[in-house]
Amino acid sequence: MQPIRAVQWSPTGDAVRIIDQRRLPGEYIERDLRTLDELCDAIATLAVRGAPAIGVAAAIGLVASLLPFVNEDPRLFRERARAHASMLAGVRPTAVNLPWAMARMSALVQSLHAASGPQLLDALRREATAILDEDRAMCNAIGANGLAFVVDGARVLTHCNAGALATAGIGTALAPVYLAHAAGRVVHVFANETRPLLQGSRLTAWELARAGIACTILTDAMAAALMRAGEIDIVLVGADRVAANGDTANKIGTYAVAVAARHHHVPFYVCAPWSTIDHATSNGDAIVIEQRDPDEIRLVHGAAIAPRDAVVRNPAFDVTPAALITGVITDKGVYRAPYLFTYPHG
Ligand code: MRU
Repeated sequence: MQPIRAVQWSPTGDAVRIIDQRRLPGEYIERDLRTLDELCDAIATLAVRGAPAIGVAAAIGLVASLLPFVNEDPRLFRERARAHASMLAGVRPTAVNLPWAMARMSALVQSLHAASGPQLLDALRREATAILDEDRAMCNAIGANGLAFVVDGARVLTHCNAGALATAGIGTALAPVYLAHAAGRVVHVFANETRPLLQGSRLTAWELARAGIACTILTDAMAAALMRAGEIDIVLVGADRVAANGDTANKIGTYAVAVAARHHHVPFYVCAPWSTIDHATSNGDAIVIEQRDPDEIRLVHGAAIAPRDAVVRNPAFDVTPAALITGVITDKGVYRAPYLFTYPHG
């Protein structure tokens, strides 16, 4: 079976190729994005989504968006590169991977101040490829570091989609699940459907079915009852931003899962690559939470499920305090409170 490639270079190297996740699970469509507008729109509308995937998509897409301008005056070209990077960095505010990837690309532009346009573009292409390759490697390392937690027969609860569709590789929260399955262990995943955009039922269930891994979809409100019934052994979730003290922003509803897990003595692990750890943000209160269009709540596939003008709150993420997190499984190892996120750690 071909691996899922949520984000990659197009074969001709002039675009970023994504799987359009707005269309799953009904249709599998790949799209090649080239212009800044196409990229911003794809990230804003969640055609490409998941913290690591949007960082990688922006890095490759930045190179693609600059191609038509490579022969302009080098000073203007550098300014344009910085402007595109800054525009992309701001499309979604919560996932740190997006500004993290754009900061890497901008730092390169800054350091190569004497380069010609083609030289700078070549360097940016290599950096984007490094970001892509590193993301794949980090997913594999998270899987290896989390493998011991997914024992034979494990019943794993997850929220949103932190699988292959959310990264350039095999995912973060689902990476240990994929490796446990490959090692011959029986694993059963319970996927919260994840209101309002249903990343759990549309995406997690789709990619696990494709891999032959047992998956049961729950509505978000069911998780606590299953924990109370003793049907969940471990929670594995992803992260959009892990603050320096371990407070973690992830898809709205994650906090409620963590509260329920603590009450029922179910271990709750966050799985995140090093690129999601934000040393510059001291704690969760400083994390900006993306507020999205109220119609995402009022409508499902265009059909009204609430009065047209109903007042709605639609924060896309919430923050789980470090005190509720059993550990953070990263590519560099498993971190526990007090969260210092130093490497090597000890
Ligand atoms: O709004 P989304 O679908 O981009 O939100 C994604 C999540 O919350 C994921 O759990 C997180 O980005 C980690 S993905 C490895």
